[in-house]
Amino acid sequence: MGLQMQRWMPSRLRNRKTLMKVYRLDPVGTLDDLKCFDEDAPRPCPHEIVVRIRAASLNYRDLKVATGTYSPSEIKPRLIPLSDGAGEVIETGPGVTRVKTGDRVTPIFGQRWLAGKINPSYSSHSLGGGVDGVLAERIVLSEEGVVPIPAHLSFEEAATLPCAAMTAWHALFSRGQLTAGETVLTLGTGGVSLFAAQFARMAGARIIITSGSEEKIARLKAMGFTDVVNYRATPDWEREVKKLTDGEGVDHVVELGGPGTFAKSLMSLRMGGGLYLIGNLAAEAQVNPRLILAKRAHVHGIQVGSREMFEAMNRAITQAKLKPIIDKQFEFGEPRAAFDYLAGRKHFGKIVIRGV
Ligand SMILES: NC(=O)c1ccc[n+]([C@@H]2O[C@H](COP(=O)([O-])OP(=O)(O)OC[C@H]3O[C@@H](n4cnc5c(N)ncnc54)[C@H](OP(=O)(O)O)[C@@H]3O)[C@@H](O)[C@H]2O)c1
Repeated sequence: MGLQMQRWMPSRLRNRKTLMKVYRLDPVGTLDDLKCFDEDAPRPCPHEIVVRIRAASLNYRDLKVATGTYSPSEIKPRLIPLSDGAGEVIETGPGVTRVKTGDRVTPIFGQRWLAGKINPSYSSHSLGGGVDGVLAERIVLSEEGVVPIPAHLSFEEAATLPCAAMTAWHALFSRGQLTAGETVLTLGTGGVSLFAAQFARMAGARIIITSGSEEKIARLKAMGFTDVVNYRATPDWEREVKKLTDGEGVDHVVELGGPGTFAKSLMSLRMGGGLYLIGNLAAEAQVNPRLILAKRAHVHGIQVGSREMFEAMNRAITQAKLKPIIDKQFEFGEPRAAFDYLAGRKHFGKIVIRGV
């Protein structure tokens, strides 16, 4: 309801609060702690906005946060989970100029990282981690903490962008300066990896993808990603990658396995190539730093991205009319089923919760 209309209402109605549904991890520790509450809907302070969340999406990080195994930053008590969502601005506080009521927006992952280099303090302001996330009917944010949704994307599609797409974009373009004709290796068929594959294709690069599932490999091939290696059937998958590149190696590796795949990713790299260290999916292993020198490799630690990078990514997504790959959608009332599906690792691309 607009503020203008509220002014004409009797005060007993004007002061009546709107209730909304919100999920909280109470306490944070196991998926059984995810509970639904009826709470007063938030109202904006100066330079804040209220976003009616229409869709949310899950990332591997959300599972780690919910199960108390996420270490990079402290988790807020009684956390509203999930970093990624999309919705509509329904109210603006005094002084807001960046957005207006009715705008379709996506919150940015790190609410304080607007541009420039990363700063250690940004991690504690990441949605669904240091501060409350998006699994609620309404959330309040700084007017600075959102970007407009590309016109061709639905709320469900836009909700997949803030963490997974942003991270892949940051690695390949903001950091990697990917150019047409280069070769990109990306690991697995989860959210970050498939965005990396789509972005690389958009840029005219060659793509090699690893997966541990023949069923998912068939899906990749049906989408035209034909250079695929099964890392379970071929434990020495780095040799296969070398073969596919005539012994030379790839220009860029989107490294999602972490310590367990780092050495093989490095061996897949051509001399002077770039490796973007993002994930932690595979088991611990020893890494020999001499390998980095042997390859004259550029190794970059990547954390999601800034609002400036998000805006650049959205321009490219708009220009290419790129559509995110959504595997499965769940209703707002069944977030536990969505988490269980993520934990089962059956997904291909993104998992979405709609109609939030
Ligand atoms: N640094 C950052 O800012 C940042 C941002 C986003 C994500 N991440 C991290 O990046 C990783 C991926 O995130 P996500 O949300 O895209 O995950 P996700 O959607 O859950 O994808 C996981 C997929 O990775 C593949 N996989 C699993 N174990 C693997 C292994 N040992 N070797 C190779 N591939 C394996 C599997 O694909 P197949 O079934 O096809 O094998 C699995 O479905 C996570 O560790 C996450 O925490 C970090």
